[in-house]
Amino acid sequence: MATLDRSAAEALDAADPIAFLRDRFALPDDLVYLDGNSLGARPVSAERRLAAAVRDEWGTGLIRSWNDAGWYTEPDRIAAGLAPLLGADADEVVVADSTSVNLFKLLVAGARLRPGRSAIVACEADFPTDLYIARAAAELLGLELRTVPGPDAVPAALDAGVAVLALCHVDFRSGAIADAAGLTAAAHAAGVLALWDLSHSTGALDVDLHGWGADLAVGCGYKYLNGGPGAPAYAVAARKHHAGLRTPLPGWFSHADPFAFDPGYTPAPGARRLACGTPPVLSLLGLAEGVASLQGATPEQLAAKARGLTALFVDLVDRYCQEVEIASPRDARRRGGQVALRHPWAYPLVQALAARGVIGDFRSPDLARFGFAPAYIRYVDVVAAVEILRAVLDGDDLSRPEFAVRQAVT
Ligand SMILES: Cc1ncc(COP(=O)(O)O)c(C=O)c1O
Repeated sequence: MATLDRSAAEALDAADPIAFLRDRFALPDDLVYLDGNSLGARPVSAERRLAAAVRDEWGTGLIRSWNDAGWYTEPDRIAAGLAPLLGADADEVVVADSTSVNLFKLLVAGARLRPGRSAIVACEADFPTDLYIARAAAELLGLELRTVPGPDAVPAALDAGVAVLALCHVDFRSGAIADAAGLTAAAHAAGVLALWDLSHSTGALDVDLHGWGADLAVGCGYKYLNGGPGAPAYAVAARKHHAGLRTPLPGWFSHADPFAFDPGYTPAPGARRLACGTPPVLSLLGLAEGVASLQGATPEQLAAKARGLTALFVDLVDRYCQEVEIASPRDARRRGGQVALRHPWAYPLVQALAARGVIGDFRSPDLARFGFAPAYIRYVDVVAAVEILRAVLDGDDLSRPEFAVRQAVT
């Protein structure tokens, strides 16, 4: 690859207004980690925080740590740190459970805010858990699940019979961004609530729930929020819906006063009414460090850097690796923080790259997917990744039998 590319990338890194974030992450020197859209990098601070929590707060403080170490109020602090990345207010955000569980709670609660309507609309191309959950919620409520092939087909599926539209903001395969403001407006024009899955957005894109007018949202804590494997997820409900919002899983942590041990149920104020049971404290602390590691960067800055990184990657792949096809939108404004490359040998390609220190992932049947987490990926990493991609394509790695062996997690 031309020396020119490397020096141009160095200049882009030098001018990057959020370059300071990278030092907050513990990344191996010899790795180009392009999978932060699946599992974010570890914040440096997480090791110390979790070690202290295990050793002192759990080991010595024991039950007292719920008060003394602030475990009980940790979800509220995380929600306050997360809210600006969502374009929401802190009391509209709750940190709890998994994305799948939060989606179920919000689909049911949302549909109940629109009594008399008979359908939920979801998208077939969305992450499968979203479809499974939407189907189950629809079955439970006796509603029809109306599916569309992609976001472009959504407006035609919206009418006065639809209660909730549930959509992923970013296509998990191609990285294509749906028009959240436009589709939310289309939903509202038909009296439909708009629920966004922001798993591939928050921490990488300019999410603006207030600006979009969105009603409800969910998303993962372990991707661009860097909360660690299996970190808790979040759920968001616009303030105008709080009064009527009833979770179908009203565990005691969703009660206004859990320690009143009241046999009667009074929901907590705000989005906290969407919590359920005791939070997984150690995972919660990982998420606290993950969200803290993004402080100081705005969603606009994160999105601009993601666009810059993916644009450089697309440009270099176009120039130097013409045997792979770009399977993501070419317009950077329509692309999330990831780029998918289509290649008939995509699985061995991902394995061969990993063996040479470039980590991406594989999505069946023929996509090699690369995430460019704007908080810690540098422009020079993009150049290095394409150099190694070129080397893999030039060698005989793709036919090596060990790279054809499918692992459980791809
Ligand atoms: C868009 C999207 N939604 C939901 C999930 C799954 O969420 P969880 O397994 O945390 O419930 C994923 C996982 O990758 C995802 O990409």
